Amino acid sequence: MSSPHLDAASGAIADTVLLPGDPLRARFIAGRFLEEAVQVNSRRNMLGYTGLYRGRPVTVIGGGMGIPSTAIYATELARVHGVRRILRVGTCGGIGDVALGDVLLAQSGSTDSNFNRLHFGGHDLAACADFGLLRGAVDAAARLGMKARVARIFSTDCFHDGDPDLLSHLRRHRIQGVEMETAGLYGLAMREGFQALTIVSVSDLLDTGGSIPPMEREQGLAVIAELALESALQAIDAAT
Ligand code: HPA
Repeated sequence: MSSPHLDAASGAIADTVLLPGDPLRARFIAGRFLEEAVQVNSRRNMLGYTGLYRGRPVTVIGGGMGIPSTAIYATELARVHGVRRILRVGTCGGIGDVALGDVLLAQSGSTDSNFNRLHFGGHDLAACADFGLLRGAVDAAARLGMKARVARIFSTDCFHDGDPDLLSHLRRHRIQGVEMETAGLYGLAMREGFQALTIVSVSDLLDTGGSIPPMEREQGLAVIAELALESALQAIDAAT
């Protein structure tokens, strides 16, 4: 059954989804890690593919940038296509004692967005990761010999400009990463009842201004995509 933003056929989307922002990254991840991958979505060129990872069906599809775009796709994936877990893979700006290329497992998502408040009577929601997926990611990182840190993330609606004091607030609260999606994805997961986890690599240093060159970003994406796929295995097997 198609939905406003997904033309995927009924049953074409797996119950585990990797959600990079960029549809071309979805294509890259599918080509690199999924066997028998077939394209399942083309609406708005938001490319999506379903294939097998270690014999388990997985879909990887772009979600766009920011909470509104991510929430549109995540809502339709969960409500119309029965998706049970969504792992966002992407990049973030790093604050404090993080280095370029560090991998962060987002335990919580703070935000300047009003998205969760709109659904929560104006109150502050503690938007947090699914513990099973987070534990799966910690275990998978150990298995793969990868350094990955459980971290606090901030999702901003303003890539450019915004609150001039934001960085000092983030430092004060020992938040290590800034991106634009996680708090909304986690709030949605809590309401819709799916599991969610964000895995990001640090692409920019917000304190000092360093950034990773584009070629290395692709390599970093491959590393976290593999970690995300491995992280989901326990949850997939526990549910089947
Ligand atoms: N801000 C918001 N989103 C981001 C950043 C940033 O500095 N870096 C990567 N994604």
